[in-house]
Amino acid sequence: MEDRSPLDPRTDQPHSARMYDYLLGGKDHYTVDGEAAEKALTSFPMLRTAARENRKFLGRAVRYLVHEAGIRQFIDLGSGLPTAENVHQVAQAADPDARVVYVDNDPIVLVYGSALLAKDARTAVIRGDIREPRTVLDHPQTRALIDFDRPVGILAVAVLHFVGDEEDPAGIMRTLREAASAGSHFILSHATADIAPEAAMGVQSAYRSQGVPLTLRGRERFTEFFEGLEMVEPGVQVVSDWRATEPEEQRPDHADVSWYGGIGRLPG
Ligand SMILES: C[S@@+](CC[C@H](N)C(=O)[O-])C[C@H]1O[C@@H](n2cnc3c(N)ncnc32)[C@H](O)[C@@H]1O
Repeated sequence: MEDRSPLDPRTDQPHSARMYDYLLGGKDHYTVDGEAAEKALTSFPMLRTAARENRKFLGRAVRYLVHEAGIRQFIDLGSGLPTAENVHQVAQAADPDARVVYVDNDPIVLVYGSALLAKDARTAVIRGDIREPRTVLDHPQTRALIDFDRPVGILAVAVLHFVGDEEDPAGIMRTLREAASAGSHFILSHATADIAPEAAMGVQSAYRSQGVPLTLRGRERFTEFFEGLEMVEPGVQVVSDWRATEPEEQRPDHADVSWYGGIGRLPG
């Protein structure tokens, strides 16, 4: 078997971080990623809109945590490549002392992220896997920046759908909940086939056939990830509707977004 370094960017096979970058119109992807994303676009031509709406949701949700919930420290799991409105920019605009740990399992995120995101002592980018939450929580840079005795904002935005059922996503959420103190908030989003089943399942097949594991889940399964948390109003919504700032007639059809999002607060 070929011996590859864990930091090998694997330019020979597509990766979800770089496909997402392609969909968002970024420049940090390879030919394989663009080709793979184009295959998914054949099934779901509005996938770019969906990715953009997911990213806008992330921005509104982080703003909520900063301005309304008073959160000043964040762990962004499956953070992706740097793009517009990264978490530390939103958080540190409100409070320059806000702390952010970005976590991703794609080595290229570490390379680009370290250059573009972690420019100050309050922001770190670490290579980690959401499927090993304990390792992420115990990482020295996480421990250095995050005080688990105070509320933390934990993001798993557009990443749990890359965790298969056999990898126990509910168990991952439990570990994260148990590490967090009361008042912590969880921002989650997830792609679904509830709204446009045929097109969305086409995307799942396109991703899987190119070696990118994708597991779409329905509203009920997604809502289960918030177990033990109080839902922040308006609860689970299609991401484009969650505390939307645009009037309804300017928002895309739910079928063109097909992505749920929400925030849960750890009570106590
Ligand atoms: C669709 S992007 C989402 C990026 C960002 N969270 C957002 O919503 O804008 C999914 C990200 O999750 C990362 N990812 C996929 N599986 C992961 C895993 N097991 N552990 C950590 N990150 C993972 C990918 O590398 C990619 O950067």
